[in-house]
Amino acid sequence: MDLTKELELCIRSRFPLICIQSHEEERVIDVLNGLCESRRTPLVMWDHADFFQTLSGDAREGLRAKDPLSALEAVERAGGELVFLLRDFHQCWDNQPRVIRKVRNLAQQLKYTKKTLMISLPGGRLPPELRDEAVLIDVPPPDYHDLERILEHLLSTPKVRWEGDEGTRDRIIRSALGLSSSQAQRVFAKAIVSNGVLDERDIELINQEKSQIVGESGALEYIAPNAGLADVGGLENLKAWLRLRERAFGAKARDYGLPEPKGVALIGVPGTGKSLTARMVASLWRVPLIKLDMGALFGQFVGESEGNLRRALHLAETVAPCVLWIDEIEKGLSMGGGDGGTSQRVFGAMLSWMQDKRRPVFVVATANDVGRLPPELLRRGRFDETFFLDLPHAGERREIFEVHLRKRKRDPAGYNLDLLVTASEGYVGAEIEQTVIEAMYIAFNDGDGREFTTDDLMQALKKLVPLSRAQKERIADLRSWLVEGRAQSASYREAREASRRFVPIEAQR
Ligand SMILES: Nc1ncnc2c1ncn2[C@@H]1O[C@H](COP(=O)(O)OP(=O)(O)OP(=O)(O)O)[C@@H](O)[C@H]1O
Ligand SMILES: [Mg+2]
Repeated sequence: MDLTKELELCIRSRFPLICIQSHEEERVIDVLNGLCESRRTPLVMWDHADFFQTLSGDAREGLRAKDPLSALEAVERAGGELVFLLRDFHQCWDNQPRVIRKVRNLAQQLKYTKKTLMISLPGGRLPPELRDEAVLIDVPPPDYHDLERILEHLLSTPKVRWEGDEGTRDRIIRSALGLSSSQAQRVFAKAIVSNGVLDERDIELINQEKSQIVGESGALEYIAPNAGLADVGGLENLKAWLRLRERAFGAKARDYGLPEPKGVALIGVPGTGKSLTARMVASLWRVPLIKLDMGALFGQFVGESEGNLRRALHLAETVAPCVLWIDEIEKGLSMGGGDGGTSQRVFGAMLSWMQDKRRPVFVVATANDVGRLPPELLRRGRFDETFFLDLPHAGERREIFEVHLRKRKRDPAGYNLDLLVTASEGYVGAEIEQTVIEAMYIAFNDGDGREFTTDDLMQALKKLVPLSRAQKERIADLRSWLVEGRAQSASYREAREASRRFVPIEAQR
Protein backbone atom coordinates (compact mmCIF):
# COMPACT_ATOMS: atom_id res chain seq x y z
CA MET A 1 0.00 0.00 0.00
CA ASP A 2 1.32 3.48 -0.60
CA LEU A 3 2.38 5.61 2.31
CA THR A 4 -0.39 8.20 2.02
CA LYS A 5 -3.13 5.60 2.02
CA GLU A 6 -1.57 3.70 4.89
CA LEU A 7 -1.21 6.81 7.08
CA GLU A 8 -4.70 7.97 6.25
CA LEU A 9 -6.12 4.63 7.21
CA CYS A 10 -4.27 4.76 10.54
CA ILE A 11 -5.54 8.25 11.34
CA ARG A 12 -9.11 7.44 10.31
CA SER A 13 -9.05 4.26 12.35
CA ARG A 14 -8.07 6.38 15.36
CA PHE A 15 -4.90 4.56 16.22
CA PRO A 16 -3.52 6.69 19.04
CA LEU A 17 0.17 5.88 18.56
CA ILE A 18 1.81 5.42 15.16
CA CYS A 19 5.53 4.84 14.80
CA ILE A 20 6.97 5.47 11.38
CA GLN A 21 10.21 3.74 10.57
CA SER A 22 12.02 5.61 7.82
CA HIS A 23 15.17 7.48 6.97
CA GLU A 24 13.15 9.66 4.66
CA GLU A 25 11.91 12.27 7.07
CA GLU A 26 11.24 14.83 4.41
CA ARG A 27 9.05 12.46 2.43
CA VAL A 28 7.13 11.42 5.55
CA ILE A 29 6.52 15.06 6.52
CA ASP A 30 5.41 15.88 2.96
CA VAL A 31 2.91 13.08 2.93
CA LEU A 32 1.62 13.90 6.42
CA ASN A 33 1.30 17.57 5.57
CA GLY A 34 -0.74 16.86 2.48
CA LEU A 35 -2.89 14.44 4.38
CA CYS A 36 -3.59 16.81 7.28
CA GLU A 37 -4.34 19.67 4.91
CA SER A 38 -6.90 17.66 3.03
CA ARG A 39 -8.48 16.48 6.27
CA ARG A 40 -8.26 19.98 7.76
CA THR A 41 -6.55 18.59 10.82
CA PRO A 42 -3.75 20.68 12.29
CA LEU A 43 -0.31 19.05 12.24
CA VAL A 44 2.13 19.95 15.00
CA MET A 45 5.73 18.79 15.13
CA TRP A 46 8.15 18.59 18.05
CA ASP A 47 11.85 17.93 18.19
CA HIS A 48 14.74 18.51 20.54
CA ALA A 49 16.05 21.58 18.75
CA ASP A 50 13.06 23.63 17.64
CA PHE A 51 10.46 22.27 20.06
CA PHE A 52 6.83 22.73 18.92
CA GLN A 53 6.09 24.01 15.41
CA THR A 54 2.73 24.08 13.67
CA LEU A 55 3.05 22.68 10.16
CA SER A 56 -0.48 22.85 8.89
CA GLY A 57 -3.56 24.55 10.28
CA ASP A 58 -3.60 27.60 12.55
CA ALA A 59 -0.62 28.11 14.83
CA ARG A 60 -1.25 26.60 18.24
CA GLU A 61 -0.71 28.94 21.15
CA GLY A 62 0.46 27.69 24.48
CA LEU A 63 2.30 24.62 23.21
CA ARG A 64 5.68 24.87 24.86
CA ALA A 65 8.09 22.18 25.96
CA LYS A 66 11.86 21.89 25.98
CA ASP A 67 12.19 18.29 27.09
CA PRO A 68 10.50 15.06 26.02
CA LEU A 69 8.44 14.61 29.18
CA SER A 70 7.01 18.13 29.03
CA ALA A 71 6.31 17.63 25.33
CA LEU A 72 4.27 14.54 26.11
CA GLU A 73 2.43 16.44 28.85
CA ALA A 74 1.64 19.22 26.37
CA VAL A 75 0.23 16.65 23.96
CA GLU A 76 -1.89 15.32 26.80
CA ARG A 77 -3.27 18.78 27.63
CA ALA A 78 -3.96 20.00 24.07
CA GLY A 79 -7.61 20.06 23.07
CA GLY A 80 -9.44 19.32 19.82
CA GLU A 81 -8.53 17.27 16.78
CA LEU A 82 -4.76 17.23 16.25
CA VAL A 83 -1.94 15.19 14.77
CA PHE A 84 1.42 15.37 16.57
CA LEU A 85 4.66 14.27 15.00
CA LEU A 86 7.60 13.76 17.37
CA ARG A 87 10.91 13.64 15.55
CA ASP A 88 13.93 11.56 16.59
CA PHE A 89 12.04 10.52 19.67
CA HIS A 90 13.90 7.21 19.87
CA GLN A 91 16.79 9.22 21.32
CA CYS A 92 14.51 10.45 24.05
CA TRP A 93 13.47 7.06 25.32
CA ASP A 94 16.79 5.22 25.24
CA ASN A 95 17.39 4.34 28.90
CA GLN A 96 14.51 6.60 29.94
CA PRO A 97 11.87 4.39 31.56
CA ARG A 98 9.81 7.46 32.54
CA VAL A 99 9.55 8.64 28.95
CA ILE A 100 8.56 5.18 27.75
CA ARG A 101 5.95 4.89 30.52
CA LYS A 102 4.58 8.32 29.67
CA VAL A 103 4.23 7.43 25.98
CA ARG A 104 2.44 4.28 27.02
CA ASN A 105 0.05 6.07 29.37
CA LEU A 106 -0.61 8.68 26.74
CA ALA A 107 -1.34 6.09 24.05
CA GLN A 108 -3.96 4.57 26.29
CA GLN A 109 -5.55 7.96 27.05
CA LEU A 110 -5.55 9.23 23.46
CA LYS A 111 -7.93 6.43 22.49
CA TYR A 112 -10.69 8.55 23.96
CA THR A 113 -9.69 11.79 22.19
CA LYS A 114 -9.33 13.02 18.60
CA LYS A 115 -5.58 13.33 18.92
CA THR A 116 -3.04 11.14 17.08
CA LEU A 117 0.55 10.80 18.18
CA MET A 118 3.14 9.94 15.53
CA ILE A 119 6.76 9.21 16.19
CA SER A 120 9.36 9.04 13.44
CA LEU A 121 12.13 6.51 13.97
CA PRO A 122 15.02 6.80 11.56
CA GLY A 123 16.69 3.46 12.15
CA GLY A 124 15.68 3.41 15.82
CA ARG A 125 13.86 0.61 17.54
CA LEU A 126 10.53 0.43 19.26
CA PRO A 127 10.97 -0.44 22.95
CA PRO A 128 9.31 -3.79 23.77
CA GLU A 129 6.99 -2.00 26.25
CA LEU A 130 5.38 -0.11 23.39
CA ARG A 131 4.86 -2.98 20.99
CA ASP A 132 1.27 -3.53 22.08
CA GLU A 133 0.28 0.11 21.97
CA ALA A 134 1.89 1.23 18.74
CA VAL A 135 1.22 0.61 15.09
CA LEU A 136 4.55 0.35 13.30
CA ILE A 137 4.76 1.56 9.73
CA ASP A 138 7.81 0.55 7.78
CA VAL A 139 8.14 3.03 4.94
CA PRO A 140 9.29 1.21 1.80
CA PRO A 141 11.81 2.93 -0.47
CA PRO A 142 10.25 4.72 -3.43
CA ASP A 143 9.20 2.35 -6.19
CA TYR A 144 9.74 2.59 -9.93
CA HIS A 145 6.84 5.00 -10.46
CA ASP A 146 7.87 7.28 -7.59
CA LEU A 147 11.36 7.54 -9.07
CA GLU A 148 9.91 8.09 -12.53
CA ARG A 149 8.00 11.08 -11.15
CA ILE A 150 11.14 12.49 -9.53
CA LEU A 151 13.10 12.13 -12.77
CA GLU A 152 10.29 13.62 -14.83
CA HIS A 153 10.11 16.60 -12.53
CA LEU A 154 13.84 17.23 -12.92
CA LEU A 155 13.72 16.78 -16.68
CA SER A 156 10.94 19.32 -16.97
CA THR A 157 13.32 22.07 -15.80
CA PRO A 158 14.09 24.15 -18.89
CA LYS A 159 17.90 23.97 -18.81
CA VAL A 160 18.21 20.24 -18.38
CA ARG A 161 19.28 18.31 -21.43
CA TRP A 162 18.25 14.73 -21.88
CA GLU A 163 20.13 12.36 -24.14
CA GLY A 164 18.96 8.85 -24.57
CA ASP A 165 16.10 6.66 -25.59
CA GLU A 166 13.41 4.87 -23.62
CA GLY A 167 15.85 2.11 -22.73
CA THR A 168 18.32 4.56 -21.17
CA ARG A 169 15.55 6.21 -19.20
CA ASP A 170 14.40 2.86 -17.94
CA ARG A 171 17.94 1.86 -16.93
CA ILE A 172 18.50 5.15 -15.11
CA ILE A 173 15.31 4.75 -13.11
CA ARG A 174 16.06 1.11 -12.34
CA SER A 175 19.57 1.87 -11.25
CA ALA A 176 18.16 4.36 -8.72
CA LEU A 177 15.82 1.78 -7.18
CA GLY A 178 16.78 1.31 -3.56
CA LEU A 179 17.68 4.96 -3.02
CA SER A 180 15.44 7.15 -0.91
CA SER A 181 13.57 9.97 -2.65
CA SER A 182 15.99 12.62 -1.49
CA GLN A 183 18.99 10.46 -2.35
CA ALA A 184 17.55 9.88 -5.82
CA GLN A 185 16.84 13.56 -6.27
CA ARG A 186 20.36 14.41 -5.15
CA VAL A 187 22.03 11.86 -7.38
CA PHE A 188 19.97 12.77 -10.47
CA ALA A 189 20.80 16.42 -9.89
CA LYS A 190 24.49 15.61 -9.39
CA ALA A 191 24.50 13.58 -12.60
CA ILE A 192 23.03 16.49 -14.53
CA VAL A 193 25.33 19.08 -13.01
CA SER A 194 28.45 16.98 -13.68
CA ASN A 195 28.19 17.39 -17.45
CA GLY A 196 24.96 19.19 -18.15
CA VAL A 197 23.11 16.18 -19.46
CA LEU A 198 21.52 13.08 -18.12
CA ASP A 199 22.54 10.08 -20.17
CA GLU A 200 23.76 6.49 -20.16
CA ARG A 201 27.05 7.45 -18.52
CA ASP A 202 25.28 8.62 -15.40
CA ILE A 203 24.23 5.10 -14.48
CA GLU A 204 27.69 4.58 -13.04
CA LEU A 205 27.34 7.61 -10.80
CA ILE A 206 24.03 6.34 -9.51
CA ASN A 207 25.59 2.94 -8.82
CA GLN A 208 28.34 4.64 -6.82
CA GLU A 209 25.76 6.27 -4.61
CA LYS A 210 24.22 2.90 -3.98
CA SER A 211 27.55 1.44 -2.99
CA GLN A 212 27.57 3.68 0.05
CA ILE A 213 24.31 2.23 1.26
CA VAL A 214 25.67 -1.29 0.86
CA GLY A 215 28.89 -0.49 2.68
CA GLU A 216 26.92 -0.09 5.89
CA SER A 217 26.56 -3.83 6.28
CA GLY A 218 29.56 -5.87 7.41
CA ALA A 219 28.92 -8.99 5.35
CA LEU A 220 28.37 -7.15 2.09
CA GLU A 221 30.93 -5.39 0.00
CA TYR A 222 30.23 -3.25 -3.02
CA ILE A 223 32.59 -3.94 -5.87
CA ALA A 224 33.06 -1.37 -8.56
CA PRO A 225 32.40 -2.99 -11.94
CA ASN A 226 35.93 -3.36 -13.29
CA ALA A 227 35.91 -6.23 -15.73
CA GLY A 228 34.31 -6.19 -19.15
CA LEU A 229 33.78 -8.85 -21.79
CA ALA A 230 37.16 -8.00 -23.26
CA ASP A 231 38.91 -8.94 -20.03
CA VAL A 232 37.75 -12.53 -20.21
CA GLY A 233 39.31 -14.89 -22.69
CA GLY A 234 37.27 -17.84 -23.95
CA LEU A 235 34.17 -19.05 -22.08
CA GLU A 236 32.10 -18.23 -25.16
CA ASN A 237 29.13 -20.37 -24.19
CA LEU A 238 28.84 -18.70 -20.80
CA LYS A 239 29.33 -15.26 -22.34
CA ALA A 240 26.62 -15.91 -24.93
CA TRP A 241 24.24 -17.03 -22.20
CA LEU A 242 24.90 -13.84 -20.26
CA ARG A 243 24.64 -11.59 -23.30
CA LEU A 244 21.24 -13.07 -24.12
CA ARG A 245 20.05 -11.87 -20.71
CA GLU A 246 21.64 -8.45 -20.87
CA ARG A 247 18.35 -6.60 -21.13
CA ALA A 248 16.44 -8.94 -18.88
CA PHE A 249 15.97 -6.43 -16.05
CA GLY A 250 14.41 -3.78 -18.29
CA ALA A 251 10.81 -2.64 -18.59
CA LYS A 252 10.54 -4.03 -22.12
CA ALA A 253 11.51 -7.51 -20.95
CA ARG A 254 8.96 -7.26 -18.16
CA ASP A 255 6.20 -6.16 -20.51
CA TYR A 256 7.13 -9.00 -22.82
CA GLY A 257 6.57 -11.34 -19.91
CA LEU A 258 10.15 -12.55 -19.57
CA PRO A 259 10.94 -13.90 -16.12
CA GLU A 260 13.88 -12.14 -14.48
CA PRO A 261 16.96 -14.36 -14.36
CA LYS A 262 17.59 -15.79 -10.91
CA GLY A 263 21.20 -16.74 -10.95
CA VAL A 264 24.00 -18.87 -12.17
CA ALA A 265 26.33 -21.31 -10.45
CA LEU A 266 29.93 -21.43 -11.63
CA ILE A 267 31.76 -24.60 -10.75
CA GLY A 268 35.17 -25.55 -11.88
CA VAL A 269 38.90 -25.75 -11.89
CA PRO A 270 40.62 -23.08 -9.75
CA GLY A 271 41.94 -20.09 -11.68
CA THR A 272 39.68 -20.48 -14.70
CA GLY A 273 37.90 -17.15 -14.26
CA LYS A 274 34.92 -17.83 -12.01
CA SER A 275 35.44 -14.76 -9.84
CA LEU A 276 36.38 -12.79 -12.95
CA THR A 277 33.09 -13.76 -14.59
CA ALA A 278 31.10 -12.61 -11.56
CA ARG A 279 32.69 -9.19 -11.91
CA MET A 280 32.07 -9.19 -15.65
CA VAL A 281 28.34 -9.92 -15.38
CA ALA A 282 27.76 -6.77 -13.35
CA SER A 283 29.58 -4.53 -15.84
CA LEU A 284 27.90 -6.20 -18.78
CA TRP A 285 24.46 -5.63 -17.32
CA ARG A 286 25.34 -2.27 -15.78
CA VAL A 287 24.04 -3.18 -12.36
CA PRO A 288 25.85 -2.93 -9.03
CA LEU A 289 27.93 -5.88 -7.88
CA ILE A 290 27.63 -6.88 -4.25
CA LYS A 291 29.79 -9.55 -2.72
CA LEU A 292 28.43 -11.55 0.17
CA ASP A 293 30.99 -12.90 2.58
CA MET A 294 29.33 -15.94 4.08
CA GLY A 295 32.03 -16.18 6.75
CA ALA A 296 31.28 -12.67 8.05
CA LEU A 297 27.67 -13.64 8.76
CA PHE A 298 28.50 -15.90 11.64
CA GLY A 299 28.07 -14.35 15.06
CA GLN A 300 28.51 -15.67 18.54
CA PHE A 301 24.96 -15.34 19.81
CA VAL A 302 22.01 -17.62 19.20
CA GLY A 303 20.11 -16.50 16.15
CA GLU A 304 22.64 -13.79 15.37
CA SER A 305 23.92 -15.42 12.19
CA GLU A 306 20.43 -15.89 10.76
CA GLY A 307 19.64 -12.27 11.62
CA ASN A 308 22.80 -11.11 9.86
CA LEU A 309 21.86 -13.08 6.77
CA ARG A 310 18.35 -11.64 6.77
CA ARG A 311 19.65 -8.10 7.02
CA ALA A 312 22.24 -8.66 4.29
CA LEU A 313 19.69 -10.15 1.90
CA HIS A 314 17.23 -7.39 2.66
CA LEU A 315 19.86 -4.82 1.82
CA ALA A 316 20.71 -6.61 -1.42
CA GLU A 317 17.01 -6.53 -2.31
CA THR A 318 16.92 -2.82 -1.61
CA VAL A 319 19.72 -2.24 -4.08
CA ALA A 320 18.14 -4.54 -6.70
CA PRO A 321 18.49 -4.90 -9.61
CA CYS A 322 21.96 -6.08 -8.73
CA VAL A 323 24.29 -9.03 -8.91
CA LEU A 324 24.87 -10.76 -5.59
CA TRP A 325 28.14 -12.62 -5.75
CA ILE A 326 28.68 -15.44 -3.29
CA ASP A 327 32.27 -16.51 -3.75
CA GLU A 328 33.26 -20.02 -2.73
CA ILE A 329 29.82 -20.82 -1.43
CA GLU A 330 30.96 -24.20 -0.08
CA LYS A 331 33.06 -22.40 2.55
CA GLY A 332 29.94 -20.94 4.14
CA LEU A 333 28.71 -24.45 4.70
CA SER A 334 31.72 -25.64 6.56
CA MET A 335 32.05 -22.65 8.85
CA GLY A 336 31.94 -25.01 11.78
CA GLY A 337 31.29 -28.71 11.96
CA GLY A 338 30.54 -28.36 15.65
CA ASP A 339 28.56 -25.13 15.67
CA GLY A 340 25.28 -26.71 16.64
CA GLY A 341 23.97 -26.67 13.10
CA THR A 342 24.19 -22.89 12.70
CA SER A 343 25.90 -23.06 9.32
CA GLN A 344 23.30 -25.59 8.15
CA ARG A 345 20.50 -23.28 9.24
CA VAL A 346 22.06 -20.21 7.66
CA PHE A 347 22.60 -22.16 4.46
CA GLY A 348 19.02 -23.41 4.56
CA ALA A 349 17.73 -19.86 4.99
CA MET A 350 19.88 -18.78 2.09
CA LEU A 351 18.48 -21.55 -0.13
CA SER A 352 14.88 -20.71 0.63
CA TRP A 353 15.52 -17.03 -0.03
CA MET A 354 17.02 -17.94 -3.40
CA GLN A 355 13.90 -19.87 -4.24
CA ASP A 356 11.40 -17.24 -3.11
CA LYS A 357 13.08 -13.88 -3.68
CA ARG A 358 10.80 -11.33 -5.23
CA ARG A 359 13.28 -8.65 -6.20
CA PRO A 360 15.65 -8.90 -9.15
CA VAL A 361 18.80 -10.01 -7.36
CA PHE A 362 20.87 -12.14 -9.70
CA VAL A 363 22.96 -14.58 -7.70
CA VAL A 364 26.35 -15.65 -8.99
CA ALA A 365 27.66 -18.44 -6.80
CA THR A 366 31.10 -19.86 -7.38
CA ALA A 367 32.53 -23.08 -6.03
CA ASN A 368 35.53 -25.24 -6.66
CA ASP A 369 35.12 -27.89 -4.01
CA VAL A 370 32.15 -29.72 -5.46
CA GLY A 371 32.50 -32.59 -3.02
CA ARG A 372 31.29 -30.30 -0.25
CA LEU A 373 28.34 -28.91 -2.14
CA PRO A 374 24.98 -30.17 -0.91
CA PRO A 375 23.00 -31.56 -3.86
CA GLU A 376 19.96 -29.39 -2.98
CA LEU A 377 21.96 -26.25 -3.80
CA LEU A 378 21.95 -26.92 -7.49
CA ARG A 379 18.40 -28.17 -7.71
CA ARG A 380 16.34 -26.58 -10.47
CA GLY A 381 14.58 -23.41 -9.46
CA ARG A 382 17.47 -21.83 -7.56
CA PHE A 383 19.81 -21.19 -10.44
CA ASP A 384 18.88 -20.86 -14.07
CA GLU A 385 22.00 -22.72 -15.07
CA THR A 386 25.12 -24.38 -13.70
CA PHE A 387 28.26 -23.84 -15.74
CA PHE A 388 31.48 -25.75 -15.51
CA LEU A 389 34.69 -23.86 -16.21
CA ASP A 390 37.17 -26.37 -17.48
CA LEU A 391 40.86 -26.18 -18.35
CA PRO A 392 40.89 -23.76 -21.30
CA HIS A 393 41.29 -25.30 -24.77
CA ALA A 394 43.79 -24.01 -27.32
CA GLY A 395 41.57 -21.24 -28.74
CA GLU A 396 40.78 -20.01 -25.26
CA ARG A 397 44.40 -20.00 -24.16
CA ARG A 398 45.23 -17.88 -27.19
CA GLU A 399 42.59 -15.37 -26.17
CA ILE A 400 43.75 -15.36 -22.56
CA PHE A 401 47.34 -14.66 -23.67
CA GLU A 402 46.00 -11.81 -25.80
CA VAL A 403 43.96 -10.37 -22.92
CA HIS A 404 46.93 -10.29 -20.58
CA LEU A 405 49.42 -9.02 -23.13
CA ARG A 406 47.06 -6.21 -24.05
CA LYS A 407 46.46 -5.49 -20.39
CA ARG A 408 50.21 -4.81 -20.12
CA LYS A 409 50.07 -2.62 -23.22
CA ARG A 410 51.84 -5.13 -25.48
CA ASP A 411 50.68 -6.02 -28.97
CA PRO A 412 49.93 -9.77 -29.12
CA ALA A 413 51.03 -9.79 -32.78
CA GLY A 414 54.59 -9.39 -31.55
CA TYR A 415 54.61 -12.87 -30.00
CA ASN A 416 54.53 -16.40 -31.34
CA LEU A 417 51.15 -17.31 -29.96
CA ASP A 418 51.00 -20.71 -31.72
CA LEU A 419 54.04 -21.83 -29.80
CA LEU A 420 52.76 -20.46 -26.50
CA VAL A 421 49.34 -22.03 -26.93
CA THR A 422 50.84 -25.45 -27.54
CA ALA A 423 53.22 -25.15 -24.62
CA SER A 424 50.50 -24.02 -22.23
CA GLU A 425 48.22 -27.03 -22.51
CA GLY A 426 46.80 -27.76 -19.06
CA TYR A 427 47.38 -24.18 -17.81
CA VAL A 428 44.45 -22.12 -16.54
CA GLY A 429 43.84 -18.37 -17.00
CA ALA A 430 45.38 -17.41 -13.67
CA GLU A 431 48.51 -19.37 -14.55
CA ILE A 432 48.76 -17.77 -17.98
CA GLU A 433 48.51 -14.35 -16.35
CA GLN A 434 51.24 -15.37 -13.91
CA THR A 435 53.39 -16.51 -16.83
CA VAL A 436 53.12 -13.11 -18.51
CA ILE A 437 54.10 -11.34 -15.29
CA GLU A 438 56.98 -13.74 -14.68
CA ALA A 439 58.29 -13.19 -18.24
CA MET A 440 58.21 -9.45 -17.64
CA TYR A 441 60.29 -9.88 -14.49
CA ILE A 442 62.78 -12.11 -16.27
CA ALA A 443 63.31 -9.59 -19.08
CA PHE A 444 63.27 -6.52 -16.85
CA ASN A 445 66.02 -7.86 -14.63
CA ASP A 446 68.07 -9.06 -17.56
CA GLY A 447 70.01 -5.96 -18.53
CA ASP A 448 68.41 -2.54 -18.97
CA GLY A 449 64.79 -3.54 -18.68
CA ARG A 450 64.67 -4.99 -22.17
CA GLU A 451 61.37 -5.90 -23.78
CA PHE A 452 60.13 -9.43 -22.98
CA THR A 453 59.86 -11.94 -25.81
CA THR A 454 58.23 -15.25 -26.67
CA ASP A 455 61.34 -16.97 -25.29
CA ASP A 456 60.85 -15.32 -21.91
CA LEU A 457 57.23 -16.43 -21.91
CA MET A 458 58.28 -19.99 -22.78
CA GLN A 459 60.82 -19.97 -19.99
CA ALA A 460 58.20 -18.70 -17.54
CA LEU A 461 55.79 -21.42 -18.65
CA LYS A 462 58.39 -24.10 -17.95
CA LYS A 463 59.09 -22.73 -14.49
CA LEU A 464 55.46 -23.03 -13.45
CA VAL A 465 53.89 -26.37 -12.60
CA PRO A 466 50.19 -26.02 -13.40
CA LEU A 467 47.62 -27.25 -10.92
CA SER A 468 46.34 -29.73 -13.50
CA ARG A 469 49.65 -31.52 -13.02
CA ALA A 470 50.36 -30.77 -9.38
CA GLN A 471 46.92 -31.91 -8.26
CA LYS A 472 46.03 -34.35 -10.97
CA GLU A 473 43.48 -36.39 -9.03
CA ARG A 474 41.65 -33.41 -7.66
CA ILE A 475 41.30 -31.82 -11.08
CA ALA A 476 40.25 -35.12 -12.67
CA ASP A 477 37.63 -35.50 -9.94
CA LEU A 478 36.29 -32.04 -10.59
CA ARG A 479 36.11 -32.60 -14.31
CA SER A 480 33.96 -35.68 -13.84
CA TRP A 481 31.13 -33.21 -13.22
CA LEU A 482 31.28 -32.10 -16.75
CA VAL A 483 31.64 -35.58 -18.17
CA GLU A 484 28.61 -36.73 -16.19
CA GLY A 485 26.61 -33.84 -17.63
CA ARG A 486 25.77 -32.27 -14.27
CA ALA A 487 26.74 -28.87 -15.56
CA GLN A 488 26.87 -27.10 -18.88
CA SER A 489 30.30 -26.35 -20.29
CA ALA A 490 31.23 -22.67 -20.17
CA SER A 491 33.08 -23.21 -23.45
CA TYR A 492 31.52 -24.44 -26.66
CA ARG A 493 30.94 -28.14 -27.09
CA GLU A 494 33.40 -28.84 -29.92
CA ALA A 495 36.07 -27.24 -27.86
CA ARG A 496 35.04 -29.23 -24.85
CA GLU A 497 35.44 -32.49 -26.74
CA ALA A 498 38.95 -31.50 -27.66
CA SER A 499 39.92 -30.50 -24.17
CA ARG A 500 38.48 -33.66 -22.68
CA ARG A 501 41.06 -35.60 -24.63
CA PHE A 502 43.77 -33.71 -22.81
CA VAL A 503 45.73 -35.99 -20.46
CA PRO A 504 48.40 -34.46 -18.23
CA ILE A 505 51.87 -35.32 -19.41
CA GLU A 506 52.77 -37.26 -16.26
CA ALA A 507 49.71 -39.44 -16.65
CA GLN A 508 50.80 -40.42 -20.12
CA ARG A 509 54.08 -41.79 -18.90
N1 LIG B 1 39.31 -16.82 -18.92
C1 LIG B 1 40.16 -15.89 -18.46
N2 LIG B 1 40.46 -14.82 -19.21
C2 LIG B 1 41.31 -13.88 -18.78
N3 LIG B 1 41.90 -13.92 -17.58
C3 LIG B 1 41.65 -14.95 -16.78
C4 LIG B 1 40.76 -15.99 -17.17
N4 LIG B 1 40.67 -16.87 -16.16
C5 LIG B 1 41.47 -16.41 -15.18
N5 LIG B 1 42.05 -15.26 -15.54
C6 LIG B 1 42.99 -14.45 -14.74
O1 LIG B 1 43.25 -15.10 -13.53
C7 LIG B 1 42.80 -14.32 -12.43
C8 LIG B 1 42.19 -15.22 -11.39
O2 LIG B 1 41.01 -15.82 -11.88
P1 LIG B 1 39.73 -16.01 -10.99
O3 LIG B 1 39.97 -15.45 -9.65
O4 LIG B 1 38.57 -15.50 -11.72
O5 LIG B 1 39.69 -17.58 -10.92
P2 LIG B 1 38.66 -18.48 -10.13
O6 LIG B 1 38.10 -19.43 -11.13
O7 LIG B 1 37.71 -17.64 -9.37
O8 LIG B 1 39.63 -19.25 -9.19
P3 LIG B 1 39.34 -19.86 -7.73
O9 LIG B 1 38.56 -21.10 -7.96
O10 LIG B 1 40.73 -20.15 -7.24
O11 LIG B 1 38.63 -18.82 -6.96
C9 LIG B 1 41.81 -13.36 -13.02
O12 LIG B 1 41.73 -12.18 -12.26
C10 LIG B 1 42.36 -13.12 -14.40
O13 LIG B 1 43.34 -12.13 -14.37
MG1 LIG C 1 37.52 -17.28 -7.31
